[in-house]
Amino acid sequence: SSSGTHNEKRQARMELVTYIKNPDFQEWDGTKTRTQTIGPDGNDPEEGKPGPESTAVQLDQGSVIDDYTQIKPYAGMPKEVLLLHSSKARYRVPREILFWLTVACTLALVAVTATVIALSPRCLSWWQLSPVYQVYPRSFKDSDGDGVGDLKGIQEQLDHFEFLNIKSVWIGPVFRSPMKDFGYDVEDFQDIDPVFGSMQDFEKLLAEMHNLKMIMDFIPNHTSDKHRWFNLSRTRDPHYQDYYIWADCTEAAPRPNNWVSVFGNSSWTYDPVRGQCYLHQFLKEQPDLNLRNPRVRQEMIDILRFWLDKGVDGFRMGGVKYILEAAHLRDEPQVDQKKPPESISSEWDLHHDYTTSQLGLHDLLRDWRAEMDVFSREPGRYRLMVTESYDHQEVEKTMMYYGSSQVKEGDFPFNFHLLDLPQNTSGLWVQHLVHLWMQNMPQGKWPNWVVGNHDNPRISSGAGGLYVPVINMLLLTLPGTATTYYGEEIGMRTLHLTDTGSLDPAGRYNTSASRDPQRSPMQWSSSTNAGFNNKTDLSWLPVHPDYTSVNVEVQKEDEGSVLSQYSFLSALRQSELPLQRGWFCYIQADANVFSYLRELDGLDRAFLVVLNFGRESAVTDLSSVSEIPNQLTVLFSTNHLHHGRVLQKSAIHTDPGEGLVVRFSAPKRFNPTHPSQCYVSEKACYLRVVDILYRC
Ligand code: GLC
Ligand code: MG
Repeated sequence: SSSGTHNEKRQARMELVTYIKNPDFQEWDGTKTRTQTIGPDGNDPEEGKPGPESTAVQLDQGSVIDDYTQIKPYAGMPKEVLLLHSSKARYRVPREILFWLTVACTLALVAVTATVIALSPRCLSWWQLSPVYQVYPRSFKDSDGDGVGDLKGIQEQLDHFEFLNIKSVWIGPVFRSPMKDFGYDVEDFQDIDPVFGSMQDFEKLLAEMHNLKMIMDFIPNHTSDKHRWFNLSRTRDPHYQDYYIWADCTEAAPRPNNWVSVFGNSSWTYDPVRGQCYLHQFLKEQPDLNLRNPRVRQEMIDILRFWLDKGVDGFRMGGVKYILEAAHLRDEPQVDQKKPPESISSEWDLHHDYTTSQLGLHDLLRDWRAEMDVFSREPGRYRLMVTESYDHQEVEKTMMYYGSSQVKEGDFPFNFHLLDLPQNTSGLWVQHLVHLWMQNMPQGKWPNWVVGNHDNPRISSGAGGLYVPVINMLLLTLPGTATTYYGEEIGMRTLHLTDTGSLDPAGRYNTSASRDPQRSPMQWSSSTNAGFNNKTDLSWLPVHPDYTSVNVEVQKEDEGSVLSQYSFLSALRQSELPLQRGWFCYIQADANVFSYLRELDGLDRAFLVVLNFGRESAVTDLSSVSEIPNQLTVLFSTNHLHHGRVLQKSAIHTDPGEGLVVRFSAPKRFNPTHPSQCYVSEKACYLRVVDILYRC
């Protein structure tokens, strides 16, 4: 076999020389002599390495030419020879061109795909797909009969959220608290107050809320004066002494400056233990934390982690504009310069240049956002951050809480503009309030709407009960996330408390500011205490006397009720992409009616919403809107007798407080020809050629 190998090598050498003789080869190689190292059996698996025979073969073109017979070009060419051929420019150049072309195309494809994905609107997250329902825990459902709502009570009523098609529930503060501000004065941020239950009850509730997301309160501005930190701070414990805002003062002159509390009177209180004054922007039992102290900031992060670890899905960050104060403690400018300084006692007396929205506030919020993002990485576990700040008159201040496209902050700041809705209820006014937000919201952000909460009167008390259904319809058909305060889905009314005084501390300084009226117990049924409490007839605030007609049980049976409307519209929104994520286009507004379209590119199904906020019946003429068909069928009206009505677009009739949803098919979309009247959130997915890339 060794001679066989020898012969094979000879043969190979012969063929090689033949090809070197070939004029083609010579043409390729300008030199007359080439030296080529060949190991013909170098890859022999038996040997593993070149054998002794496989020494370098010197190929001298001139010396071997005559020994060999010419054979057919390329036939039986060994690999080595082929390689020589393939190195010729005419093969090599096209090959290299093709190679680099392939590389370039692949890179271009990757780049295009990445760009398309980056530029494409993302799919909606859970907090964009359902209204947020606000539970005020004291008032929602009392399971143990002590007259105060509790965690087990909420658990008992989870079906209610399913009925309403609600996926996100914000549960007000349930932390351990002396309840001076009903839970917003926290004694221990990492414990549950016994009046609401235990930590086990909390964990059980969270576990039971399988398909629901739970949003909690985060209260970074202050603690209760009963908090351990405050006690250690007033005794000047070295670790805690700077946890709060302390300033020199005396018992006789306890006002280091003119700052006032939101609840009225000076925001300073003298502490005899420490012999200094501490700041409280709310009650004197709610000392303001010193967020400039890194230790306090770390405590806040620890609190966030504590609840995020338990699985809480988001936070409503309360009173954020108050979290930093100017360190110089200078007097704030008076609104009315002529007022005697000693008479300054209300928050409306001062411009809050040094006590609200201080520099550094947004850095803190961004840190908290970043912390929440650490917990958001698992699919479907996005943690929501909503901020609460009343800056009505300065919409640009509110918008800052959205962060920018570069730096993330809140997912949305609560939009409180619609709280002003009752002041001048008309189609134009509603459009104005809606537009205030849409116009000022940074590009690519997601809107939201609030019409009531535990701090503000219910819809019915301002706009009037007649307008509750049309306002709910507005919330559920606008783009963005709606917030519904408990009871608004049944049109609960504000409670008139005549002789009881105010349990709410805000009402003690100014009775008209009391928040008790909107905190009355949820009305579940016609039984005692409206079913708020099935064991006793106790309730911490009286139940509204209208509970026999305004309650969940009764309204479930009535297809025309506020509750039936809410659940229908909420379900419609969930199933109809144009309502969820489509374009929003203003169509018409006048003293009575506000009307808009919801449509989606690529879909011929669209929605026309006509809402009458006025005091009179209206006939709306939309004949100039060519994209809307002439004949329309009412899909849903707040007056259930009008479902299915056929209308001409030139004469759309609505009664005061009536809202209509019309679903129609039309070949043409409105938004392409009316860009200035239309809006779509860039965060929303809507059909485009690249739709396939962002299917949920
Ligand atoms: C938040 C709450 C409010 C409370 C205030 C002070 O803004 O919404 O109810 O009174 O904080 O704690
Ligand atoms: Mg503060």
